[in-house]
Amino acid sequence: MNVKYIKSNTSFKGLVIIPVYETENETLFEDIKISKKLFFGKKDTNYIVEKNDVNYLFIGLGKSPDYKTIKTIFRRISAKQSSYFETNATFVLPIEFTDLNVEAAISGLVLGTYNLGHYKKEKISHTINNEIFVLEILSENDFKTSVEKGIKIANAQLETFNLVDLPSNKITPKYLSNWAVEAGNKYGFKTEIFDRKKCEDVGLHSFLAVGQGSEREPQFIIMDYNPSNSKKHIGLVGKGITFDTGGLNIKVAGMVHMKCDMAGAGAVLGAMQLISDLKLPYRITAIVPACENSVDAKSFLPSDVINSYSGSTIEIIDTDAEGRLILADGLSYLIKNYKPETVIDIATLTGSSVGTFGYECGALFTNNEELSKKLQQSGDAIGERLWQLPLWDSYKSDINSEIADVKNYSGKPVAGAISAAKFLEHFTDKHTSWAHLDVAGVAFGDDEFAKTKHATAFGVHLITNFIENL
Ligand code: BES
Ligand code: MG
Ligand code: ZN
Repeated sequence: MNVKYIKSNTSFKGLVIIPVYETENETLFEDIKISKKLFFGKKDTNYIVEKNDVNYLFIGLGKSPDYKTIKTIFRRISAKQSSYFETNATFVLPIEFTDLNVEAAISGLVLGTYNLGHYKKEKISHTINNEIFVLEILSENDFKTSVEKGIKIANAQLETFNLVDLPSNKITPKYLSNWAVEAGNKYGFKTEIFDRKKCEDVGLHSFLAVGQGSEREPQFIIMDYNPSNSKKHIGLVGKGITFDTGGLNIKVAGMVHMKCDMAGAGAVLGAMQLISDLKLPYRITAIVPACENSVDAKSFLPSDVINSYSGSTIEIIDTDAEGRLILADGLSYLIKNYKPETVIDIATLTGSSVGTFGYECGALFTNNEELSKKLQQSGDAIGERLWQLPLWDSYKSDINSEIADVKNYSGKPVAGAISAAKFLEHFTDKHTSWAHLDVAGVAFGDDEFAKTKHATAFGVHLITNFIENL
């Protein structure tokens, strides 16, 4: 796609996109008049007028659409009305549009080019992605920065869509580590990979226990983006279970969706791309422990006691509570070796968080009120909402083990997301600025853009926006 910026136009061609706020009046554009009966800018409506081979597409925005609404409206146009886009489109920006409105609209248009049919014989590529496609931005004002940012956000989210939607025989731990190396080279961050042998030497016992039943070699991925103008050091950890069978406590329901169990990793990888692409002045160290939770003679067993990087021993009550085991080593390794000022982990960690919040928001855990507020503000601003659950010490007994320092599951079907968070907290070395995001309900789901569950890239923009607003 090529973007051109124009201040006026006398000869439109191809498609002309005209967003319209809900109005009491009839809609007028150039010499086109639309009666109120047919169109008045109501949200989720649109109206097309064909005139002299030019298609004028009027898009209803409603009265005061938020960021997510605008993004979805434009994603819908490019995803569902792709035939409208040929070689040229002019985007007529309403005078009311702010920088953020433009960013949301453009990133929606680009996101709408995504196609789930990765392995179809006949690949469909969206015309917006053609090299010759020209998008003209028509406005009196200069929106170049917002347009470019909108494209970067969508590009990072598209990467995350790919990583999460592709199946586990393609997205192996090795695939993720290769991705991280390549993205690091392209966007300017350093990547270091620990293979199984190196993880053994380093002592990432808890991480290795989860991956030991898989043919696919675990990869402990460390990325470091360290610009010279860095203002603060942030640490990220993303759960990278490329497939979760449950292990020997094999899943009896919903296993087919468990290629999504690296969506936390996908969010961290996408955020690393976006943060470095935007050249944000913050040092970010990100860790993705990546492995597969498989069923095998070599798999770890319920009742096993394993070691961890931190030195704490862990009693395995349930091999399906594997995410917290790999995050434990990720968190301890990050905090011990890099000492970031703030640490955020993101994971499809528990069915319990889905039971609590459904598909509306991620569960947020932190003892730091300021961090909580800032993360929630970012989420509200861009439409990736979070809601806080408690980390009270009264829940600590859920992870007390008689044989080891901690156990990985309370054994009780209650407060699962909270006890998982308490388990993680044990491995944060009492860090005073740590937040855990359980995104099991929001990272992968159903929406209007496909018939099957698919990635949402939840977290990519949220984490980036949070960092931008520090
Ligand atoms: N990967 C799952 C959690 C999950 C559930 C992700 C639904 C996405 C959608 C996690 O590893 C898991 O299996 N959690 C168990 C923990 C339990 C055994 C303590 C759960 O939540 O049921
Ligand atoms: Mg599991
Ligand atoms: Zn899992």
